[in-house]
Amino acid sequence: MKKIGVLTSGGDAPGMNAAIRAVVRKAIYHDIEVYGIQHGYQGLIDGAIEKLELGSVGDIIQRGGTKLYSARCEEFKTAEGQQKGIDQLQKNGIEGLIVIGGDGTFMGAKKLTEQGYPCIGVPGTIDNDIPGTDFTIGFDTALNTIIDAIDKIRDTATSHERTYVIEVMGRDAGDLALWAGLADGAESILIPEVKDDFDDVIDRLKRGHDRGKKHSIIILAEGMGSGFEFSKKIKEATDLETRVTVLGHTQRGGSPSAADRVLASRLGAYAVDLLIAGKAGRMVGIEKNELVDHDILEILNAKHSVDLGLYRLSKELSI
Ligand code: F6P
Repeated sequence: MKKIGVLTSGGDAPGMNAAIRAVVRKAIYHDIEVYGIQHGYQGLIDGAIEKLELGSVGDIIQRGGTKLYSARCEEFKTAEGQQKGIDQLQKNGIEGLIVIGGDGTFMGAKKLTEQGYPCIGVPGTIDNDIPGTDFTIGFDTALNTIIDAIDKIRDTATSHERTYVIEVMGRDAGDLALWAGLADGAESILIPEVKDDFDDVIDRLKRGHDRGKKHSIIILAEGMGSGFEFSKKIKEATDLETRVTVLGHTQRGGSPSAADRVLASRLGAYAVDLLIAGKAGRMVGIEKNELVDHDILEILNAKHSVDLGLYRLSKELSI
């Protein structure tokens, strides 16, 4: 293999730049040319492709976002869109592709692999919702951003003796809410993986209030619905003064944590190793701190599961 491509697709995540850097440096170390494809699969269709050198990825390991830009591309879901992408790969002599993103990104990689283009997926999303890896690139940084915000909200919640509902991202997964809630000692955590917990939230609030507790923090995963709707229900059930904070896209930005930089460097380099070894249609990941790779199709068919042991622990520690 003499020429490979790299792209980022879907929602950006802190650490994607570190992964791009690792792909480029590791490939060049092995005398392989690397081409950066901008704006994900849209850029592949449009031919937004440029050669990356060692210096192209200097000074980016510490930056959030993605140097290659990202997009969600509807056209690439069609056979015509995929053919346009393949035409561009052929035109540029690109023999293998590394795609960094979430499950939508891996679906594109699966299609290309089926049509003879070896692709390797690298899990990059703040949601941590990809099976086959304990952690995705960006999760740790987003978690720390959330913790920082909750700590600040806690100050004002205490001063005004209020109940706060904090809505966090995660799409259909509860990982960000669960880890943030546990790390910040939230009174209640609501995640889509554990339904019908509203009565428990109300019981806890009432018990806390009766014990003289002055404020409460409730972390709501966005997959459970709107924080504003939820806070209305709490107010109706308890009459406690309640406020809502939707953390939104602040969770996706910022300089990647050390853990995300290291994870991205390991996964990006490992993806290059797999292409060199002639592998295709694999996703790299980390399990029990060991590098692993899985069939992308298996990953797409598998269901991510949240750590329910952590959920039970959070309940025990916030009695
Ligand atoms: O997948 C990452 C993520 O930030 C999710 O947590 C969120 O639901 C979604 O992307 C938001 O997407 P967009 O940036 O397109 O609004």
